[in-house]
Amino acid sequence: MAETKSGELMEKIVSLCKRRGFIFQSSEIYGGLNGFWDYGPLGADLKRNVKEFWWNTMTRWRDDVAGLEATIIMHPKIWKASGHVDTFSDPMVDCKTCKARFRADQMNEIPCPQKPSKMSNECHGEKTEARPFNLMFETTVGPIKTDDSLAYLRPETAQAIFAQFKNVMETARQKVPFGIAQMGKAFRNEVTPRNFTFRSREFEQMELEFFIRPDEAVEAITGTVARPLGPGHPGEPQPNWGWQMWHQYWVEERIRFYENIGLPRTTLEEYWQKPEELAHYARATVDLLFKFPFGTQELEGIAARSDFDLSQHQRCSGRPMTVFDEELKAAWPKLDPARQTELRDRYRQARLKYLTKAGETVEAAEKQAQADAEALTKGYYVPHVIEPSAGVDRLTLALISNAYCEDQAPDEKGKLESRIVMRFHPRIAPLKVAVFPLLKNKPELVAKAREILALLRPHMTAFYDEAGAIGRRYRRQDEAGTPFGVTIDFDTLGEKGPELKDTVTLRERDSMKQERVRIADLLPLLLEKIR
Ligand code: GLY
Repeated sequence: MAETKSGELMEKIVSLCKRRGFIFQSSEIYGGLNGFWDYGPLGADLKRNVKEFWWNTMTRWRDDVAGLEATIIMHPKIWKASGHVDTFSDPMVDCKTCKARFRADQMNEIPCPQKPSKMSNECHGEKTEARPFNLMFETTVGPIKTDDSLAYLRPETAQAIFAQFKNVMETARQKVPFGIAQMGKAFRNEVTPRNFTFRSREFEQMELEFFIRPDEAVEAITGTVARPLGPGHPGEPQPNWGWQMWHQYWVEERIRFYENIGLPRTTLEEYWQKPEELAHYARATVDLLFKFPFGTQELEGIAARSDFDLSQHQRCSGRPMTVFDEELKAAWPKLDPARQTELRDRYRQARLKYLTKAGETVEAAEKQAQADAEALTKGYYVPHVIEPSAGVDRLTLALISNAYCEDQAPDEKGKLESRIVMRFHPRIAPLKVAVFPLLKNKPELVAKAREILALLRPHMTAFYDEAGAIGRRYRRQDEAGTPFGVTIDFDTLGEKGPELKDTVTLRERDSMKQERVRIADLLPLLLEKIR
């Protein structure tokens, strides 16, 4: 029963997305392309607002994060170093009867080949053994197709950040701890794209790589490493934070981000991956999940990735990814010898573990780990990283799902009728305000409405609508999720007396309350509400 209801809700959302121009199937006139989606006028603005707020909060409004915009196609060796060439795969099985392909780990929720949008267990054909299927899209660079020209569409934006780590750090004049943020397209050739835009083959990511000192360096500088005392935001960053505090800090910062765009904590779930679920390089990963109509699914992962990524690029490119830390160099000689030995040895062990796992011979790994530990004593190390990695499309879908609401609203005669209203937070709503002249055949009303539109447009997305009864126009904007409506009527023109001249009606989407506002106050009032 609950499942049917969720299914119905999802169908309504998909239908509204198409009808109102949030999301269309890609290449629809040719039957669509599975796993690819286009954003229509409202969807494009919604998504843009999400990305802009992320970019502002994660980069522009912080001193300790710098931005990057790298290419989608990069040197293929990047993907060898990152592990994607060898391990970025899903287990795939074929059905010997219907020839459909499935992810082996999703066999209980097989999409029916006849109706790919419906999940069913209809197909009982014999399945092949599971085999790995690499999710990277391949392409060739240049006019000749050879093994040497093979390249990949990036499956994540993160690797460009690691590859450009030194350039960004130097040009942005940053010191560890600091971060590099990037958003952009990524591509994964999913075996079974599904759940509308949730799992698409082309999608956008918003990723931050926040580089921190290894705990041994923190301990050498500050004498101790602070660890989380309990749940909640740990406050302003402190010099004695180790990776656990930074990890908790970013989990909480990301939850705040979601709260600020209208996804309260109650709509989210925090899932701490179990040790056996962690990627081999990860020390801890928290997934932030959202309750979609089709189930509770991941919006974002916040991973403590140790120094794996930069170390890999250092090994594979031969270019140093170490940083020099003046404070560490100054602190080290002041430590007592026993402490120096302890920290050096702990760091050496950690490096040895990484190098051995990375495939170095025991002898080479021991030699390198020894050298890395010596370098630490002189102020050099490979930074560790905390990675909050969010999907733009799944977040946009979460915002659409969360905003969707059906309620009752009075029509022109005061009779209640049902309405669909998209209760977007004003900060991310695609349209902030709609401007309506009460009647379109009264030139003075239209002229005044156009004047108000021109006043608002440089500051916010404003939509002009003069077609049809005012109640219908309100309904259309409710469906678009426009938080405010401004109506220009005869009172505005001063026809009923001077006291209401140059005032308009401001209607609020959710409460449907209307108040009279002076035109002179309108812009600051709206700016305050959409900030
Ligand atoms: N960079 C992590 C991810 O793409 O999932």
